[in-house]
Parts: sequence; C-alpha cells; structure tokens
Amino acid sequence: MVSKLKNKKVLITAGPTREYLDPVRFISNESSGKMGYALAEIFIKYGAKVALVSGPVPSSYSVSQENITAVKTADEMCNECLKHFTDCDIAVFSAAVADYKPKQKSDTKIKKQDGAISIDFVKNRDIAFEFSKIKKNSQLSIGFALETNNVLENASKKMNKKKFDAIVINSPNENEGFGYDTNKISILNKKGELKSYSLKPKSEVATDIIEQIMMML
Ligand code: CTP
Repeated sequence: MVSKLKNKKVLITAGPTREYLDPVRFISNESSGKMGYALAEIFIKYGAKVALVSGPVPSSYSVSQENITAVKTADEMCNECLKHFTDCDIAVFSAAVADYKPKQKSDTKIKKQDGAISIDFVKNRDIAFEFSKIKKNSQLSIGFALETNNVLENASKKMNKKKFDAIVINSPNENEGFGYDTNKISILNKKGELKSYSLKPKSEVATDIIEQIMMML
C-alpha cells in the first residue's frame, strides 16, 4: 500500500519554550516533547518529509537530527515555523508555547535586591493563529488542547479561532499529558465529530492521530 503521507511536507512543533529573564533564568513549563517526537517518528515511518521545530527537550529521543530545528524561545519557534507555513501540507502544533514572555530580558544576571520584585509580561505571538491567517484550503492544521474544565467548549473555541481542521484534547491527569509516556486523548474535528481513545503509550497515540489525519487528506 502506498502511504497517503509519502513525500507530504509536515511541520510539527514540540516541547516547551523558555522565556528568559536574564542570561541564566527563564520561565517555562513541564512539556517533555514526547508527543511531538512520537508523531514525528510515525510521520517519517509513513514517508512524510518532517520538519520538527522543537523547544528544549531531553536528548534521548530517536528522531534524526536532520529533521529537527532546536529553538528555545517562543519567538524563535515562531520565526522558524514561518519558514514552513507556505509550503507545508500538514502542520501539527503540539508544542506547549509560552503565552507570555518577560517584557524585558536583562543582558546581565539580575542581582538580588531588598524586598520583592515584580516582572512585567507581554504576549507572545500565537504560532497556530499566525498559520491560520495564511492557511490554504489544501493545508491541514492540527492543534492540541490541554484543558482542566469546560473541555469541549474550550477546545471547540480554540479550533474555530485558530482554524484547526481537528484538535487533540488531553488532560493533565496522572499518566496523561505532560511528561508521561502514556496519553489519553479525544480528537474533535471541525465537523463536530468527537472520537475518544483509551490510555495508551504515546507511540500508539501518535498512530491514532496520524490515522485520523490520513482520513482528512
Ligand atoms: N499555540 C501556539 N502558539 C502559542 C500558543 C499556543 O501555536 N503561542 C498552539 C498550541 O501548540 C496548541 C494550541 O495552540 O496546538 C492551543 O494551545 P493552548 O495553550 O491550549 O491554548 P491557548 O490558545 O494558549 O489558550 P489557553 O492557554 O488560555 O488555554
């Protein structure tokens, strides 16, 4: 069987971003990148041409370096993704991009002061939303949503705002989502159809997601 994904250009974002306060301190999140890397592996197995734009993750994953562009900040991730927006066939936004960054990054290490300090934050660009502004009908966009409450309503709003063709919903429960080797997902598509899966290793979850994507091609 010839894979529908053979030679398709796939952009994947993965992992966390770091938003720096000074050269040695940053704000980040718990994302391990495991889901994005598992997706990259399966897409490659199916013959797709994968560009994986990855925030800082452990170096133990098995995706080939030639597929990976390593970035640290949300700005770097966004700038790298912009290079792929016009010619990718499929974009999968699995990264946990920081929504905010410190308004200023000090060039030198911030010294301790008497009393409290406060930090001003400004918004980062939303990479998936940037893609939605130029996305062609022939391109597929897949988002992720980690929700703790009003799950379907929030996921559906995100899908509409960012023009996702489908959104993968997971929750921060034990054994699911950030850092774990397993995940329990549902996939909501733009027709409003919802498919729920059992708790599985992330490699199998990646296969489930990619099978749904192939049905949309
Ligand atoms: N996303 C992105 N760039 C950002 C923020 C989010 O590309 N700056 C993408 C994520 O990779 C994910 C989707 O948008 O595919 C939803 O991300 P999420 O953090 O759940 O949603 P937000 O829009 O940031 O809303 P909130 O944090 O308020 O839930």
